[in-house]
Amino acid sequence: FADPTFSATVIAWQKQHGRHALPWQNTRDAYRIWLSEIMLQQTQVSAVIPYYLRFLQRFPDVASLAAAPVEDVMAHWSGLGYYTRARNLHRCAQRVVAEHGGNFPADPAMLAELPGIGRSTAAAIAAFACGARAAILDGNVKRVFARVFGIDGYPGEKKVEDALWLRAEALLPQADMTAYTQGLMDLGATVCARSRPACPACPLATRCVAFNTLRTAELPVRKPK
Ligand code: ADE
Repeated sequence: FADPTFSATVIAWQKQHGRHALPWQNTRDAYRIWLSEIMLQQTQVSAVIPYYLRFLQRFPDVASLAAAPVEDVMAHWSGLGYYTRARNLHRCAQRVVAEHGGNFPADPAMLAELPGIGRSTAAAIAAFACGARAAILDGNVKRVFARVFGIDGYPGEKKVEDALWLRAEALLPQADMTAYTQGLMDLGATVCARSRPACPACPLATRCVAFNTLRTAELPVRKPK
């Protein structure tokens, strides 16, 4: 599945049309990147921004978060929802301090051992913080791949998800991992929306199986009942 023109297209689009001024961009501070990725797991960018900024004022680094009472952490998370994320965030900070000397590991496999960090979040942190060649595959990216490559199975199914991970790994660029990773996220969140995608604005439309066969409404396949 390797195809360097895929990543080159995403990277060029990101540089021209992607988001460049989100509060967690333009930093290599793994703590800030990790915090943003956990908040963004189940919450939209616009809702996350004020929480992210307040959280960083109170807990500017992993040591201050690890040392804080859990009630204080929960109070700063209050309103964001999915509170397991906040408990795991606190536990993760304590493990980074106790087991990694206060530095997030650079290796995505080691990041994925920490509480609240799954495979895709680990890859995003490693890519943004260190330029690691690690593939992300969140819900938005699954939708982009399912449409572009015309993948006909339900992406929540194990064998379909495994196939998507193989694609995602094979398509990684040799350089520019930050722009590539952010570009996939931005395409999935904006242009390649679940309903009424903006295909005329999409740099992948010419090669998109769903667009070219008029199947954007059918792909990705919905959960079978
Ligand atoms: N969703 C998940 N991670 C994101 C990021 N880094 N920027 C924007 N949206 C995201």
